[in-house]
Amino acid sequence: MDVKDAINKRRAYRSLENIDITDDLIKDLAESAHIAPSCMNNQPWRFVFVKDKVVLNKIFETLPPTNAWVKKASMIIGVASKKENDCILGERLYYLFDTGMATAFIILRATELDLVAHPIAGFNEEKVKEILNIPNEMRLITLVNVGKHSSEINPVLSDNMKLGEKQRPPRKPLEQIRYLDKYENNL
Ligand SMILES: Cc1cc2nc3c(=O)[nH]c(=O)nc-3n(C[C@H](O)[C@H](O)[C@H](O)COP(=O)(O)O)c2cc1C
Repeated sequence: MDVKDAINKRRAYRSLENIDITDDLIKDLAESAHIAPSCMNNQPWRFVFVKDKVVLNKIFETLPPTNAWVKKASMIIGVASKKENDCILGERLYYLFDTGMATAFIILRATELDLVAHPIAGFNEEKVKEILNIPNEMRLITLVNVGKHSSEINPVLSDNMKLGEKQRPPRKPLEQIRYLDKYENNL
């Protein structure tokens, strides 16, 4: 698949059906993140691939009702890092940027494999860190929920989320996010 095709195909679907999580799949996704770029090649990211049903269920129990759809995920990838793992240039902290890039590589590779890989921020960081044995000083940045897109809409979804299964949520006009030659502070 072309990169452009994968970028277009990627969606944060919320209706998931079960897939078999193989060691090969985990290796494949981890390798995609492994060669991502990072400031000074610091590789600040850490990924916890969770496929054990007991551990998954523990995470599911901590989720807010808005993210109940996650309970259909076959794997959750916990994405963790800390600012000291990467370049700190004044107020520019690169650990989130670099970990985000590596995570995007995982998401695009999963998309190419015809899987859904949906990152969320709506989870209890403290509780999930405890379940995953992630040290206190680290940030658990996101949980990437992996599964196969189901053609049957998950009934736990809100109306807006149901709509999101059919069409991509609208974006800001392109003019509002891209400038030519200089930034314009008028939008
Ligand atoms: C950092 C981040 C956090 C997100 N958190 C949630 C979340 O907690 N629950 C959820 O249902 N979707 C979450 N999403 C998905 C976004 O709502 C989704 O990407 C956005 O609506 C655009 O839709 P699309 O990705 O299908 O184009 C999150 C996405 C990102 C990148």
